[in-house]
Amino acid sequence: MKEIYRIAIDGPSGAGKSTIAKAVAARLGIDYIDTGAMYRAVGYKVKAKGIDADDEAALESLLNETDIDFRKGDIILDGEVINDKIRTPEISKMASIVSAKGPVRAKLVDIQRAMGTRKSIIMDGRDIGTNVLKDAEYKIFLTASVEERADRRYRELVAKGQDVNYDDICRDIAARDHSDRTRELNPLRKADDAVELDTTGLDIEQVVAEVMNIVRACD
Ligand code: DC
Repeated sequence: MKEIYRIAIDGPSGAGKSTIAKAVAARLGIDYIDTGAMYRAVGYKVKAKGIDADDEAALESLLNETDIDFRKGDIILDGEVINDKIRTPEISKMASIVSAKGPVRAKLVDIQRAMGTRKSIIMDGRDIGTNVLKDAEYKIFLTASVEERADRRYRELVAKGQDVNYDDICRDIAARDHSDRTRELNPLRKADDAVELDTTGLDIEQVVAEVMNIVRACD
């Protein structure tokens, strides 16, 4: 294995990207970068400040005063840890809206690319293999059926004590899939050189083992 290498994991919402990426990062002793959390952080700030996401000038000035970083696995927005605040259905929707905006993508992609130059990382998102880290040493595209993804998200939110409805989550996921795949800027798609892994019916350990096999096989 090279001294510095990048693993790109893309796929639709709820395919298990962050759970798998976190586990693989721990096995390999490398950093994990959750780019979805960065779009959520911007969505959270846009909402908190009451800014209209369609107002490009307002969005630009908000971005100029925004600092996003990771520290020991925590997502930090302007110095504040916001891990729990960005995992609500409302912020999911806002993250999807802001992620389609050019200035938002430009700023976050710059930060993400810089993170990928200093040390070995595993980064997950929608456009990592196709855009952010086009030359990543390893690329994986994780998928799972809409029903299974909705079921996973439902359990996760219920475990956190949130009052949610399975059908609403299923509809939200289908709608987000549609907008993530059809948006103009860097839509979700499998890179030609990515290995596709369908996780429907697989448990976490099985998927982690598959990813570890892919990484070792590409050595
Ligand atoms: O992975 P997630 O659900 O936390 O992502 C939140 C939103 O951000 C989702 O609508 C897709 C978008 N996103 C993106 O456009 N590009 C990325 N690299 C990561 C996430």
